[in-house]
Amino acid sequence: DVVNVSGLTAEGYFTFDPGFTSTAACESQITFIDGANGVLLHRGYPIEQLAEHSDYLETCYLLLYGELPTAEQKTEFVRTVHQHTMVHEQIRTFFNGFRRDAHPMAIMCGVVGALSAFYHDSTDISDQNHRTVAAYRLIAKMPTIAAMSYKFSIGQPFMYPDNSLDYSANFLHMMFGNPCEPSNISPVIARAMDKIFLLHADHEQNASTSTVRLAGSSQANPFACIAAGIAALWGPSHGGANEAVVKMLEEIGDVSNIDEYIARAKDKDDPFRLMGFGHRVYKNFDPRAKVMKQAADEVLAELGINDPMLDIAKRLEEIALEDAYFVDKKLYPNVDFYSGIILKALGIPTTMFTVIFAVGRTVGWIAHWNEMISGSYRIGRPRQLYTGYSERDFVTIDKR
Ligand code: ACO
Repeated sequence: DVVNVSGLTAEGYFTFDPGFTSTAACESQITFIDGANGVLLHRGYPIEQLAEHSDYLETCYLLLYGELPTAEQKTEFVRTVHQHTMVHEQIRTFFNGFRRDAHPMAIMCGVVGALSAFYHDSTDISDQNHRTVAAYRLIAKMPTIAAMSYKFSIGQPFMYPDNSLDYSANFLHMMFGNPCEPSNISPVIARAMDKIFLLHADHEQNASTSTVRLAGSSQANPFACIAAGIAALWGPSHGGANEAVVKMLEEIGDVSNIDEYIARAKDKDDPFRLMGFGHRVYKNFDPRAKVMKQAADEVLAELGINDPMLDIAKRLEEIALEDAYFVDKKLYPNVDFYSGIILKALGIPTTMFTVIFAVGRTVGWIAHWNEMISGSYRIGRPRQLYTGYSERDFVTIDKR
């Protein structure tokens, strides 16, 4: 379906490939996707097996270092990440510059980018040790900054990290804890949160990861690169879809209204799309969506929640999967379709959904950035097919 038009340059021809549907921009050993068969492997391990047997930080280690850690390596990795969970105290005051009603993703873009103003050693990317510390800092501090962006929006005091808790429980402690009482984090909720982080950990050259690589190719510092990735993730066609899915399900409101929305999604004069459906690479079930759907069932059952939104989602999925439009275009539910339902059940406010995606994806961004910086690479510099005016003479303002 792709029309490839070639342009002539001083060096020869180039390929015109809008949206990069058929252009590989790099080599990578981190993640493999077989979109036709719905396969996702991290360093060779299927996502279903990682979701069942691993945890988020262990998967971070795998993505960063290429192998599953031994018990000793895992303990050391977790300990080191925990050492970096606090943010510089000045960052607390930095928050006061934002409006309380700012979207938490807006705050994330600003604060994560500003980390380069605090951790100067990590901006020296020529040294592998500095790059490693930058990776630890980002993985460790993202949940802290994410929780601070939420606390700020509701006018509650920030919570310091509690390093006696594991990664995901600590995040929930910082989100929902209160300095006057000890936190009581439900292990069911912490486990579900961890699975959500794990399922978002990496997805090869998606828009945000490609943005991180492109920014990094100019040798920009890692905090600036990850801030660029966060900005790219925010859009509703990418990570912002999880928030959009819940808004859509709320708007549908009842199973009886589904047909109307299916019809709108098929109407080319209506910009509405079924959020959480379709994927550039998967032309089959997104394997993460399958795990997410099962997790949604388990979490809602364990928490005793009967959310009509889950019924609407399941029915929508059934109807869409039988509909010729969706079948022909191979539009299947993606990872965002069910994640919002779980996040809602965990008590996470809708505006935080994409922030949570960003927390989980940080390791993928940093693993790709590090893979690129540690190997040979050139600055990313796409070409364009110019379709504007040919040369013409300037017209003075009185003659226009
Ligand atoms: N609802 C209705 N129609 C759709 C949908 C949808 N969700 N997705 C794609 N289509 C249609 C398009 O209108 C197009 O039809 P056409 O060929 O008749 O013009 C065809 O399917 C192909 O769609 P494209 O937009 O060309 O596919 P692309 O690969 O560029 O986009 C994307 C993929 C952005 C994910 C798209 O499917 C979409 O907008 N989905 C909804 C948003 C979403 O869920 N995003 C999350 C993606 S996963 C992630 O980032 C974590």
